[in-house]
Amino acid sequence: MEVCAEHYTTSTKRHNNYDDEEEKKHFQRIVTAFKYYKPHSLQRVKKTESYLLSLPAQHQKLLHKYREHLTEVKHCIENNDEIIKLIIKDVAHIFENVSPTTSATDTGLTHRPVLADQEKVQATIKQLVRDWSVEGREERRTCYQPIIDEIVNQFPPDSCVTSEIQVLVPGAGLGRLAFEIAKKGYTCQGNEFSLFMLFASHFVLNKCREVNSFRVHPWVHQYMNNLQPGDQTRGISFPDINPSELPETAQFSMAAGDFLEVYFEENHWDCVATCFFIDCANNIVQFIETIYKILKPGGVWINLGPLLYHFSDMPMEESIEPSYSELREVIKGIGFQMQKEETHVKTKYAQNPNSMLQYEYNSVYFVCIKPERPAEPLNQNGSNGLEDQES
Ligand SMILES: C[S@@+](CC[C@H](N)C(=O)[O-])C[C@H]1O[C@@H](n2cnc3c(N)ncnc32)[C@H](O)[C@@H]1O
Repeated sequence: MEVCAEHYTTSTKRHNNYDDEEEKKHFQRIVTAFKYYKPHSLQRVKKTESYLLSLPAQHQKLLHKYREHLTEVKHCIENNDEIIKLIIKDVAHIFENVSPTTSATDTGLTHRPVLADQEKVQATIKQLVRDWSVEGREERRTCYQPIIDEIVNQFPPDSCVTSEIQVLVPGAGLGRLAFEIAKKGYTCQGNEFSLFMLFASHFVLNKCREVNSFRVHPWVHQYMNNLQPGDQTRGISFPDINPSELPETAQFSMAAGDFLEVYFEENHWDCVATCFFIDCANNIVQFIETIYKILKPGGVWINLGPLLYHFSDMPMEESIEPSYSELREVIKGIGFQMQKEETHVKTKYAQNPNSMLQYEYNSVYFVCIKPERPAEPLNQNGSNGLEDQES
């Protein structure tokens, strides 16, 4: 199924055996999660406020500015909720090829959403900063720019027809990397399976028409490690560019669905670009195998990110967590030739730059080629016999 929205297409590409009812329920659950954002987030502040009110009068007096700050936090949550309302306003029509529900926005707050979904709503707001704000520029420079530069290096615009080069970005998040690749003239598809991300990217790509026309408070849920009260309540404007200003000829789309289910056509893509993605698998080998399969012979896989295996230690999930050195053996074993490689690439992910707590990843960056002709399978001695032939 193809994703299509007004300006940039968004289609859903789940397999036909995917149960429609299940899909509708899932869709509804995510809409409900967005709707619960305000009551859930306000509940958190109100808990602190009631404790504050139970403190001795002298303590309350000393903390009067803090009390005002909590009022400001509530305003920020309300402002965020206004953006959320816009994000979910038209989601019933988000996909060009399916109608997930006819009443996505009519649903009341019937089912209490799970806490994990609320965290995802908050993460989606932070992702707006990474992808579509001036404040996210540094993260994009360190995470996206090396990938974009390498695509240009592999497929130089002066020696190829860029629109004929097909680039896939699995786990595209809010779509900025895929958008920037398309802006360079390449045909680029972002793939994403999270409806949180798809709703928000649809809003940015299709509804935001003016630079910095909206404002969110992405750090308002971070109650700790603030130097100043304003570090929690700071507003960030988006989008930093007008997303509709992609050249007329640019070919850009977002496809919804699980990467492993959507992409099975062999030898199709010239380039697969993964950023903070490959560790989102239960079985990372399956991701790498799929990337290898769908690349054309001679095709390029560019990767940047850490190995924060997402399913690791999740009680109901299976996971393997090979180290990078084990992973590179897997990559070569599948048949890739590693062309470039760098470790300790300093990268951040949706970080509040003013927080006293900072997470920084020593990411790995590599460029792999799917050879024009597959390598001979290894024999029992771990050799392909070529050494003997050549000597
Ligand atoms: C850590 S985020 C990275 C997003 C973006 N590439 C960036 O660097 O900001 C990983 C993304 O991959 C998506 N994802 C994870 N597993 C996926 C799968 N099997 N198919 C499609 N998307 C997937 C998640 O929903 C999430 O948005």
